[in-house]
Amino acid sequence: MSHFSFFVGSTLGSAEDLAEDMADILQNRSHQTVIHTSPQVDHILIKPDHYLILVCSTHGAGDLPDNIQPLLMQLITKQPHLADLEYIAVGLGDSAYDTFCQAIQTLDQQFTHLGASRVADLLTIDVSQQDPPEAIAEKWLDHWLTHR
Ligand SMILES: Cc1cc2nc3c(=O)[nH]c(=O)nc-3n(C[C@H](O)[C@H](O)[C@H](O)COP(=O)(O)O)c2cc1C
Repeated sequence: MSHFSFFVGSTLGSAEDLAEDMADILQNRSHQTVIHTSPQVDHILIKPDHYLILVCSTHGAGDLPDNIQPLLMQLITKQPHLADLEYIAVGLGDSAYDTFCQAIQTLDQQFTHLGASRVADLLTIDVSQQDPPEAIAEKWLDHWLTHR
């Protein structure tokens, strides 16, 4: 059993719904989950068998949703040492924008810069695609859980 902390960035609720769906999948496999919708640096747990899951949409012109902007500011100002943190990252966006899924890329770069290790390919989900985001994320999560 592993422990997963979700850090969610969402304006209209889709990324939050997606995180809840992914948490259900993990719980059904006997993993423990917690979802943070106002994520802060203090919520970062570094311990064995623990993963951080970033799930974040993009708004404005490549901007982070308001609820997760404080986290980015804290990471930049506090510069925590995240060498032993393992995380995965899922972005939600619309490919009609030049800044497709820019927010998750910004967060990903910041976590990597602070020494954290992303342990799966960055997943970017285009909401203009036919498949629902939950179905895409479920397939991706299944694959990662099987091969990690
Ligand atoms: C005003 C507005 C601006 C947006 N800007 C971007 C953007 O720059 N890049 C992107 O990939 N998607 C953009 N999107 C698409 C959203 O990321 C997408 O609709 C997402 O599902 C919203 O997730 P949320 O409900 O969690 O906020 C934008 C959507 C809106 C309404």
